[in-house]
Amino acid sequence: MKILVINGPNLNMLGIREPGIYGRATYADLCDMIRAHAAETGTEVELYQSNHEGDLVDKIQEAYGKIDGIVINPGAYTHTSVAILDALKAVAIPAAEVHISDVDSREEFRRISYVRAACVATISGHGFDGYLEAMDLLRDNHEG
Ligand code: DQA
Repeated sequence: MKILVINGPNLNMLGIREPGIYGRATYADLCDMIRAHAAETGTEVELYQSNHEGDLVDKIQEAYGKIDGIVINPGAYTHTSVAILDALKAVAIPAAEVHISDVDSREEFRRISYVRAACVATISGHGFDGYLEAMDLLRDNHEG
C-alpha cells in the first residue's frame, strides 16, 4: 500500500511556530517519525509539504491512480479551501484529515473544516501521533 502524507502552509515551520501549541519538534522530525512508522508497518510513503493552495491541489490530482491513501493536514486551508475539498473528491482516494492541535478547542473559525466532507476520518489534537494513527486507519481500511 502506498500512502501520501500532505502538509499544508506553515507546517514547514514546526519547531519554530507557536511551540506552546505545536511543540518543539520540527517538520524534519515529523518526516522521520512517519518514515519510521511506514517502515515498521511495511507501508510505502511519500511526503509532501507546500505553502501554496494550487500546489496542494496539483499534488492531490497527481496521486490519482498511483496512491492508495492520503493523510492530509491542510493547515489553515482546512478552514477555507473548497479547491482542496474538490480535489480530494475528484480523485476519490480514501483520505484522513489530521491536525496536530485540537482545532475544536481553539478559535471558533478553526471548527470549520471544508476538507472533512471528503475524509473517512478526522484526527485532531493527538500531536504528531495523529499522522501515524491516520496511516494505520487507512491501512486497516485498505486491507479490509
Ligand atoms: C493545524 C490547525 C490549523 O487551524 C492551523 O491553521 C494549522 C495547523 C494543526 O495541525 O493543528 O496550520 O492544521
